[in-house]
Amino acid sequence: MDAQSCLNECDDPGTPREVASNAPTVARPAARDVHVWRIELLGDAEAYVASLSPAERLRLERLRGEQRDRFAISHGAIRRVLGAYLECSARDVPLESPSGRPPRVPGLELSLTHCEQLALFAVAVTPVGVDVEATNRVADDLRELAEATLSPAELRQFLTTPPQDQARTWLRSWVRKEAVLKARREGLDRRSLRELDVSADRVEELTLVDLDLGPSHVAAAALTPPAARITLRDWTDDSR
Ligand SMILES: CC(C)(COP(=O)(O)OP(=O)(O)OC[C@H]1O[C@@H](n2cnc3c(N)ncnc32)[C@H](O)[C@@H]1OP(=O)(O)O)[C@@H](O)C(=O)NCCC(=O)NCCS
Repeated sequence: MDAQSCLNECDDPGTPREVASNAPTVARPAARDVHVWRIELLGDAEAYVASLSPAERLRLERLRGEQRDRFAISHGAIRRVLGAYLECSARDVPLESPSGRPPRVPGLELSLTHCEQLALFAVAVTPVGVDVEATNRVADDLRELAEATLSPAELRQFLTTPPQDQARTWLRSWVRKEAVLKARREGLDRRSLRELDVSADRVEELTLVDLDLGPSHVAAAALTPPAARITLRDWTDDSR
């Protein structure tokens, strides 16, 4: 699949822009569509807290500092996005976000990922997984990490990549694996990582798509057919 042409379909960037109950409605993704919302985790975190459910607030209470703010903004923002789909206020969205599980809402499939100041939130009607990593977060022991995490085919690709590109090559495999695990709702462990080969764009039932977010991030999505078309949208917080 040509990921770039998918991303070029980007429409309505910044919609919904409003956080109030007059947020515009957004058509739900059709069977072939996946919406990926890009959410910057900046702004007034407190403005989001009132829309969170009691269970989300319990999770929030266990967090401190930046982690707390980013949780409030990401979960508050996904409530607003879902409110625009479901035509209700953010607070009334019947969203569940249990720890160690993907977010759930009746009638839609969701996946959330965050890295530093950026979150991606994927919405589809069939199972979807999305993952993002920052390119400045790669460990020094890259070769060791690659041997511990990559399949034989991925490791061959990695070892034939020029040294200056190896970090990005490893991250590309990493986000593709995490996207698959998320679409399958599985956790991550080192043993299964080497067995999970993402060097091709098809992994069993899932189709893999690399998302181009520029030089500072690497991201991928795993889609369940018939989903085949990704629309990237920007969430904008008007409080900043
Ligand atoms: C689930 C997993 C894909 C999470 O990824 P991550 O890189 O830690 O974090 P991300 O920001 O990309 O994703 C976090 C989001 O994934 C979602 N998520 C959590 N568990 C999930 C699961 N089993 N399936 C699908 N999605 C899941 C949640 O929405 C979570 O957001 P929230 O905590 O704000 O509710 C995976 O990496 C994992 O199992 N992590 C647990 C840590 C672990 O096992 N570490 C071992 C290191 S060897």
